[in-house]
Amino acid sequence: MAIAEEVGALGEATLADIQAASTTAELEEVRVAVLGKAGSLTAYLRAMGQVPKEERAQVGKTVNEVRNAVESALAARKDALAAAELSAAIDAAAVDVTLPGRAQQMGTRHLINKLTDEIAEIFLGLGYSVKTGPEVETDYYNFEALNAPADHPSRSMQDTFYVVDRSGKESAVRGESDVLLRTQTSGVQVHVMEDEPLPIYMIAPGKVYRRDVADPSHLPQFTQIEGLVVDEGITFGDLKGTLDFFCKQVFGPDRVTRFRAHYFPFTEPSAEVDVSCGICHGEGCRMCKGTGWLELLGCGMVDPNVLSMSGIDPEKYSGFAFGMGVERAACLKYNVPDLRMLLAGDMRFLRQF
Ligand code: DAH
Repeated sequence: MAIAEEVGALGEATLADIQAASTTAELEEVRVAVLGKAGSLTAYLRAMGQVPKEERAQVGKTVNEVRNAVESALAARKDALAAAELSAAIDAAAVDVTLPGRAQQMGTRHLINKLTDEIAEIFLGLGYSVKTGPEVETDYYNFEALNAPADHPSRSMQDTFYVVDRSGKESAVRGESDVLLRTQTSGVQVHVMEDEPLPIYMIAPGKVYRRDVADPSHLPQFTQIEGLVVDEGITFGDLKGTLDFFCKQVFGPDRVTRFRAHYFPFTEPSAEVDVSCGICHGEGCRMCKGTGWLELLGCGMVDPNVLSMSGIDPEKYSGFAFGMGVERAACLKYNVPDLRMLLAGDMRFLRQF
């Protein structure tokens, strides 16, 4: 076959391959095989010098024609394949906007936040204000100003998380710490007595921390609400009346309270308040361990020492204080047998409230 015919046949075959290529990658293979450095048409161009003279003009012309035809066929096919590939990619990534959406689960406010607000509302209604204090507290506010100096046995009642003290003080260098995660909200009493004018009618809700392992009746972190009243002529009768009113508001008018003598370092006299069991109403059941009563809070008349340490004259003023755990109050209100259920985040449980 004459060389020009060979080139013509190569051109025909290449045009067919170009049409047959079904992806841009395949098309590129065809281009490289024909027009690449070692391509079949390139070989003819390179070998032009060896073509017999009489054929050269014809071969040169044919090679050029074939190259032009192949190049324009490649360009056209490349455009077509790229457009097809793009539209396939778009189809593959397409979102069916007619599909129904997946419904979002609505959360609810947590029971503890709701009950904290409910309790605050009761005291706001009695003219109290709501105060807050730091969760990382000093030993002074958490213990000492509350009548519990360093060697006081009440400190062993509460296992404390200490925070590394970076103050550079001698004791801090020895590895001791005056900084802690507050074990009670009672320290807010001291801040308020130091900072605010009398009389004081306040509550202080907030988180407290103890080195306890979580079990049905203990949590290492929980919520307390502290209460403090300091005014002229405040008596234990005011304390009893206030807390009995409060308990009936929270737990319902059919629940009764009792005050049991107790000890707290910052109050004298001190008491614990029990609420009648909401399940057996005093008969005795598993919830109340057969006693008919559930322990709710601690309270008492503010110790005169605590008043004078914060600069208040105990001859002129007296006061009462109380402190309760909100998680515990929630269990008593809703007959929940285990504090840990409040933290499990189970929506089926939380939605009930
Ligand atoms: N801070 C006490 C506790 O964590 C609770 C308490 C008891 C607070 C008596 C008071 C109080 O203000 O008067 O156990």
